Amino acid sequence: MTFLASAPAKVILFGEHFVVENEPAIAAALDLRVEVSVNLLDEKRFEIRSGNLFSFVRLDDLLSNHYSVNQHLKPLYVILRKVIEKYGFEGGLKFIIKSPIPMGVGLGSSAAVFVAFSAGLLKAVAGEYDLEKVVKLASEGEILAHGRPSGIDPTISANGGVIVYRKSEGFIPLKAAVPLHLVIGVSGEVRSTATMVEKVLSLKKRFPEIFEPLYHAAGHLAIEAAKAIERGDLTSIGMLMNINHGLLSSLGVSTMNLERLVHAARDAGALGAKITGAGGGGAIISICPQNLLETVASAIKRSGGFPLISKVSDRGVSVIER
Ligand code: PMV
Repeated sequence: MTFLASAPAKVILFGEHFVVENEPAIAAALDLRVEVSVNLLDEKRFEIRSGNLFSFVRLDDLLSNHYSVNQHLKPLYVILRKVIEKYGFEGGLKFIIKSPIPMGVGLGSSAAVFVAFSAGLLKAVAGEYDLEKVVKLASEGEILAHGRPSGIDPTISANGGVIVYRKSEGFIPLKAAVPLHLVIGVSGEVRSTATMVEKVLSLKKRFPEIFEPLYHAAGHLAIEAAKAIERGDLTSIGMLMNINHGLLSSLGVSTMNLERLVHAARDAGALGAKITGAGGGGAIISICPQNLLETVASAIKRSGGFPLISKVSDRGVSVIER
C-alpha cells in the first residue's frame, strides 16, 4: 500500500521577521507542491530518499537513538521517532520525497516537506492525521532546521489559502475577494533563515527604542493588508507591500540583488514588490495585474533573477491512498 502526501510552498505576503516578535503576519499557499510517498516495508527499517540523499535506520536503532544520518534528513527521523514512540509500529516504511520548490529561498520548502512527511507518516502509522498534529510535528522539524521559527511556515503549508498568523494566537483564514497573482523572483544568493533571524534580533536588541515602533508599524501594516485582501483592493495591497519592503530594508535584510529585482518588478508594472521570507538573498514577490505577469517575469529575468509565476492556492496538505 502507498500513501501519497503533498503540501504547498508558501510566501509571506506581509510581516516576516516582525512575526518572530509576535506581530501579526500574512502568508499564502502557492500552487507548487512537495510530494512524499510512503510505502510499507516488511523489514523493520525506515528509508528516506530525497533528491540524491538516501539513508535508512533500523527500528531498534531509531528507538534507542543510536543512529547517524545526513543532517538534512535528521529532523525527519526525529519526527519519525516521535510518532513511532507514540503510536507504536512493528513494520518499516520507505519515504520518497520529491520537491519542485527551490530550497533555502524563503518559499517554505522545508516546512512543506515536514508537513507532507508528517501527514503521510501519521496516516501510515496511526490511520489518520489532523492538521493540528501535523503542524506540531512539522514545527519540531522546523526548530531543528531553523533555530527559532515563528511557526508561520508549517501553519500555512498545512492549511493552504491565505492566513493571518500571530505566534501567541495562532491563525485565522482570510478570504481574498479577488485572485492574487504573484510573480516571484528568486535571487541566486544563498542564506540561512536562522542566521538572518538572529541578525535582526540582535540589531533590535541593540536599538530597542528605534525598533519597537517599527515593529508596531509592521503589525498595523499587516492588519491593513488583511482588510485590503478581504475587499480585493489590489492597489492598496501593492502599496502596503512596498512599505513593508522599506521596513524590511531597515532591519538590514535587503541586498543589492533583491533591490534590483524589487525595482525591476515595480518598473515593469507590478502593483507592489517586496522581499519575501528571511531576506539576505532568497526571493522577492510582486503582486501583478494578470495581463502583466509575463512582462514582470521577463523584467525579473533581465535583472538576474529566476522568475516564477504563481497563484495563491486554497489547497493545504492532503494524503491519498493508492
Ligand atoms: O524561511 P523563510 O525565509 O521563509 O523565513 C521565515 C520567515 C521569518 O519571519 C524570517 C522567520 C519565521 O520563522 O517566521
